Amino acid sequence: MAKDKGTYYITTPIYYPSANLHVGHTYCTVMADAMARFKRLCGYDVHFLTGTDEHGQKIETLAEAKGVTPQAYVDEVVDGIKKLWKTMEISYDDFIRTTEPRHVKRVQKIFMKIYENGDIYKGEYEGLYCTPCESFWTESQLVNGCCPDCGRPVQAAKEEAYFFRLSKYADRLLELFEKNPEFLQPESRRNEMTSFIKQGLDDLCISRSTFDWGIPVPVDEKHVIYVWLDALTNYITALGYPDEPELYNKYWPADVHLVGKEIVRFHSIIWPAMLMSAGLPLPKQVLGHGWLLLGGEKVSKSKAAKAGDVVDPVVLIDRYGIDALKYFLLREYTFGQDGVFTNEVMLKRMNYDLANDLGNLVSRTVSMIEKYCQGIVPEATTRDNFDEELRETATGAASKVEAQMDKFAFNMALEEIWILVRRANKYIDEKMPWTLAKDPEKKAELDTVMHNLAEAIRIISILIEPFMHTTSKEIRKQMGLWYCDALWEDAFVFDKMNGEQVKKGPAIFPRLDIEKELEELAKLRPETAEPANIPLELKPEITFDDFDKIDLRVGTIVEAEKHPKADKLLVFSVKMGTETRQIISGVAQHFTPEEMIGKKVIVVANLKPRQLRGMESKGMLLFAENGERLEIVTTDAADGESVG
Ligand code: MSP
Repeated sequence: MAKDKGTYYITTPIYYPSANLHVGHTYCTVMADAMARFKRLCGYDVHFLTGTDEHGQKIETLAEAKGVTPQAYVDEVVDGIKKLWKTMEISYDDFIRTTEPRHVKRVQKIFMKIYENGDIYKGEYEGLYCTPCESFWTESQLVNGCCPDCGRPVQAAKEEAYFFRLSKYADRLLELFEKNPEFLQPESRRNEMTSFIKQGLDDLCISRSTFDWGIPVPVDEKHVIYVWLDALTNYITALGYPDEPELYNKYWPADVHLVGKEIVRFHSIIWPAMLMSAGLPLPKQVLGHGWLLLGGEKVSKSKAAKAGDVVDPVVLIDRYGIDALKYFLLREYTFGQDGVFTNEVMLKRMNYDLANDLGNLVSRTVSMIEKYCQGIVPEATTRDNFDEELRETATGAASKVEAQMDKFAFNMALEEIWILVRRANKYIDEKMPWTLAKDPEKKAELDTVMHNLAEAIRIISILIEPFMHTTSKEIRKQMGLWYCDALWEDAFVFDKMNGEQVKKGPAIFPRLDIEKELEELAKLRPETAEPANIPLELKPEITFDDFDKIDLRVGTIVEAEKHPKADKLLVFSVKMGTETRQIISGVAQHFTPEEMIGKKVIVVANLKPRQLRGMESKGMLLFAENGERLEIVTTDAADGESVG
């Protein structure tokens, strides 16, 4: 039995059940699962938490568009998420839904604790809100007038609200990052967060009153608790804090919160400040991972459809199996960095590493033991340099894997294992058992080769267990090791096998015809990537009267030049019938001034004028997004005419 090494609490973000998850979402959960399995195998008492973040404006709007209640909407999506994790055999210990009563009542208690400590006050919020990210921003934080995290438009929000005294914790947070560099990794994220705090932390708006789908503020039921405050507490409400704190006492503080890079800010600034205010211990570590990208942007289903890639994990698992997908995600990408996802990259990894390297090693070895040793793993009685080298590589691998896992370097941990896989394949070529088999005097040497290969594969079956447990089991079955579990300590020792009966099974990873697979995936794409009629994610509904307030006019751009003080801005003179006026747009990255002259455009003509870097802009031009490009919306109508 593995020794008890203490507790290990690991979490994933809780996912928004706004739509089914794609391969980018599974990336984080697959890493957390591999780490949880690894720690269990090493003898830790692991608690692995995941779940869903079900409140907020975005969900309310989506449910409305679908004509169902928010609860019915999330119930359906969460069902799909749970099924996905079941299919992927994710070994979580608990799944928390923020709509569960156990969470709701505890969030309110935590809110009250912070309130009673004097860190929550009532005020008025005026600023900008990004609904998809459920984030508040100030004008100066925007990038090209859009949300700095997701690049989508933000909306003005003005409402009475409750605030959390986040600013009060700025110094303690800086001290935390300085004194405890391990708290937030990788370092690049820590530097980003440090400079974010140094720019000045505003108090955080922590309630909303313009929609209902949330947990009521206990002291004022007109308000719902800001969805991030609600969501972050899941890491302790799921442990029963504060009313049934048995698990909390056992597992908190968490060993690691694994999160995507865009939500590091919430986990390393807001969450610790909330915990400080509530007088609770901080998590030991927040780790920010990179994104899987499609064509330079975060994976999404619509981008996948355009790029011609399949990103639906259910489809990928169905075709290639859970272990192949998990192996690819863990081996291909470097923790903390972004990486490109394409079906081709994925298929190549699966073919080269799994079918060629590992699959071949196992099937060749089992066939040879059947052929040369009647299927029985023999003893080793001879030893030369090749044997020595294989033994050393095999028994040295586990500690190297441990060292890489300590750094969350999943790709390097797998690389250490594959050094052994490739060494064992090379050993077959070096020892040429088929030649040894021809000479009866070499029988002892041949037996040694078969024994050493069986041992190397036994060790590999233990090392891959956290990453590919089904493959590990299948290999152990074929090697005649079905009668005992993979134990981590057995990966450090050689010569454990003697007399096991091997048995050839199906190829553990069949070879893929990459060209053919790509063609088939391309055929699958339309149904899987763009199902039925999915409502667009829209801003909240407006009335006809709201729309009627906007005066749209046709204009001709008569002059265009770069803004003297801002690289991103172009300054236009736009003629609208009798009037010519100055309009400034943040589009200099997309157009040259010359190409804009003469364009017949649509102008939001009654927009309140504003100053942009010292120059007045009176109105706005309409542009449409075309992937990463912008297109100007044009017309043939005469300038000055109304549009509507
Ligand atoms: N609900 C919040 C998290 C609250 S945690 C208290 C949220 N949800 S999310 O569904 O939008 O994202 C969940 C996680 O999925 C994030 O960590 C995000 O980085 C990750 N990913 C979403 N798309 C991804 C990729 N394309 N690549 C890698 N991870 C990605 O944020």
